[in-house]
Order: sequence, then C-alpha cells, then structure tokens
Amino acid sequence: MHHFHYIDGVLHAEEVSLGRIAQEVGTPTYVYSQATLTRHFQAFSRAFQGMDHLVCYAVKANSNKAVMALFASLGGGADIVSGGELARALAAGVQPERIVYSGVGKTEAEMEAALKAGILMFNLESVDELEVLNQVAGRLGVKAPVSFRVNPDVDAHTHPKITTGLAKNKFGLDMETAFRQYPIAAALPHVELKGVSCHIGSQLTDTRPFADALDRVARLVEKLREVGINLSLLDLGGGLGITYDQESPPQPDEYAAALKETVSRLGMKLILEPGRVLVGNAGILMARVLFTKQTPAKHFVIADAAMNDLIRPSFYDSYHAVWPVAKAAAGETQVADLVGPICETGDFLARDREMPAFERGDLLAVLSAGAYGFAMSSNYNSRPRAAEVLVNGGQYSVVRQRETLADLSRGEKLPSWPG
Ligand code: LLP
Repeated sequence: MHHFHYIDGVLHAEEVSLGRIAQEVGTPTYVYSQATLTRHFQAFSRAFQGMDHLVCYAVKANSNKAVMALFASLGGGADIVSGGELARALAAGVQPERIVYSGVGKTEAEMEAALKAGILMFNLESVDELEVLNQVAGRLGVKAPVSFRVNPDVDAHTHPKITTGLAKNKFGLDMETAFRQYPIAAALPHVELKGVSCHIGSQLTDTRPFADALDRVARLVEKLREVGINLSLLDLGGGLGITYDQESPPQPDEYAAALKETVSRLGMKLILEPGRVLVGNAGILMARVLFTKQTPAKHFVIADAAMNDLIRPSFYDSYHAVWPVAKAAAGETQVADLVGPICETGDFLARDREMPAFERGDLLAVLSAGAYGFAMSSNYNSRPRAAEVLVNGGQYSVVRQRETLADLSRGEKLPSWPG
C-alpha cells in the first residue's frame, strides 16, 4: 500500500504531481511519501501491540535525515551498523537509548562514540569484538551493554547476497560458541549482558524461517537460564519482505502472530529492526527519457537515471515496476530495456520489460525504490547523486539537494611531493 497514484492521468505522490517536482527539482530524483512512511511504521508497530517491543528502524535502508526524524517522532529507535549511521541517527533526533548497533566490523573509534552516546545495546558478532569492546569500555570507565548476535543456521529462502543466517555466512556466532561465550562475557568487568540478537536475511516472503530462527534462539535463552544467565532483550532483526512484483509477503500482523507465542513465553522485551518494509514502497526514483534506440536485437529506453542511482536491478537482478508519469491516452506498450548512461552492460533498471512506448523527454517512475535506493547510490562515472524529495499531502520539501559538480571532487587534490 502506498500513496503514488494517478490523478487525471498524471502520477502524483500524495497530492503533488511528479511533473511539478521534475520541473522544479529536475531529474533523477527520489521522491518519498510521508503518509506512506507513517502508515508503514504505525502498521508495523501496531502489529506488536500488547507485546513489550521497540521498533529500531534499520537506517541502512534509507538514511535520509528526514526519514529517520519522522520515525523517531513516531517513537522509533534505530538499528545502526557504523559510526556514520550513529552520527546521522543522533543528528536526526533518535534517542540513544533506542539505538542498537549491529555489524561484524566495528572499529574502536566507533565503539567509543557509541559508548559515549549511551546506546541501548551492541550486537556482538565475534569473540574478538567482545574483548575489544570490554577494553574500550574500561578505558572510558563504563559498562558496555551487549548481546551476542547468533547465527541460527536457518535458510531465509531469499537472494544469496542478502541471506545472513546460514552457517557459511560471515554474520553472528554459531549457537554453541554463543552458549560458551555468555558466561565468559558475564565475568568481564566492563560488559553488561543485555540480550540476544539475530537477523537471518532480507526480503523474506514467508514467516516460517523467522519462526524457526526464533525457536532456536529461544532454546539458547532457556539453556542460558539454566546456568543462571538471564537476558532481558530479544532482538529478532529485520527482513520482512515487500511486494515488488508478484510476491505476497506476510503482513506485519501475520509476522507478529508467528512470533507472539514464543516471545510471550520468554517474557523478554522484543526489538525489531525493520528496514525495507517501512521505506521500500514509500519511495520512487523519477527519471527522464534522454533517447530511445532500436537495434536489430532490442529496443532501448535510455534514461537519465542509472545503476549508480539504483543498483538493485544490476546487483540482485531485482524487479522494480516502471510507470509513466503521464499516462498516454492510447496506452501503447513495447518490450524494452530501460537503461542509464553508464558505460557498463550491467547498467539497467528493467530488462526485456513490457513498458509504455516511452519517447524522448517523457518522465517515468521506478517504483519500490525507497529502500536500498539512494542509500546504495554512488558517484560512478562521475555522476552527481540524485536529489531526494519528501512529499507531505499537498507540499513537498527537498530533503537532500542534488549533488553539484563541485561536490564530486570535494577533498581531492593534486599531490604535493616533499622536497
Ligand atoms: N538488521 C540487520 C542486522 C541487517 O543486516 C539488516 C539488513 C536489517 C536489519 C534490515 O533488513 P530489512 O528489514 O531491510 O530486510 N541491499 C539489499 C538488502 C541488504 C540488507 C542488509 N541488512 C537489497 O537492496 O535488497
């Protein structure tokens, strides 16, 4: 469910015409709908009503400050994976005691910044990390609140690049190691045991793997209780999928229902780290057609947005619907590749797709681009990154300016050799 719809044949974000945004802000531009973001956050959180829970938005999905600030104002916390995300989350007004910090490779400087900020919990992913965090906390004279991220070895049945809970993946500690490490961590002077966490993958379209992972984590929690270790926080990560094409992922209610019984039995506070499900369908990438070209093999629609703006189709072969901003009266279609200007064959946004018969100058929207869109964009081919716009009812605001050519070489300089 989202608020991108046609009014008199023109695609609007809520009540704002995308044509108007293109004219005033240019293209390519990411456009987010505040009503959709709000609705998704509230529907997700409401699904867990009656369970003591905290929604820590996975800011990697879309780390625009306006998006983070909106979720913070709705009571959300943040799941971060770097010092950069910590700084952005704090700047956006996320309360530090609602921040959890995941990731396999935290630096000492990042640990220090998070300890000074007073975050809720570090999700530790290795024994080395535990030792280093204990030292860093000792230097600061504080206790680090920790959980171990466990790897439950459950197949999430999603794209191999975004599966994280298999034994062969780099994430977390296996159950046996975690069981052995908890008592060791409990004895460390600068560590305070808080919880357990897991995240098995992204874009899951079935509740089964979540429930299986939870069962395994629950067994660990219960075994730890038998040896006198009581944890209060249960972080089940993110991963709930969205509809890009024909998928029918579970609704937040079904997801919550699949977890409820076990979570209630454990009596722990539940932490969730949703990313994609909150922002994915709340954003589109708008582009303008530069040229069209017919080759003996194919028809190409060449737009001013490319893989540097939205890498998901190239990187994961993922599907994003393509809609015209102005619906043609005749509604003619053709099978085409929608490509960008980047000098790689892998630069495409849609392939062999039946789409409107676009012509030079037409505007189009690539849907479901709110998650891992701008956040994964780059300056490849020295292309300035797109603008980001947030729409709220009948108004819009540019929440990130389009980069300029000067931005592209900021910090670069010619060498000045000594001597
Ligand atoms: N928590 C942790 C520890 C994570 O690693 C992730 C995502 C999330 C939460 C949020 O997962 P979500 O609810 O968004 O599925 N770039 C890929 C997705 C990578 C996901 C990485 N981790 C894509 O565009 O599909």
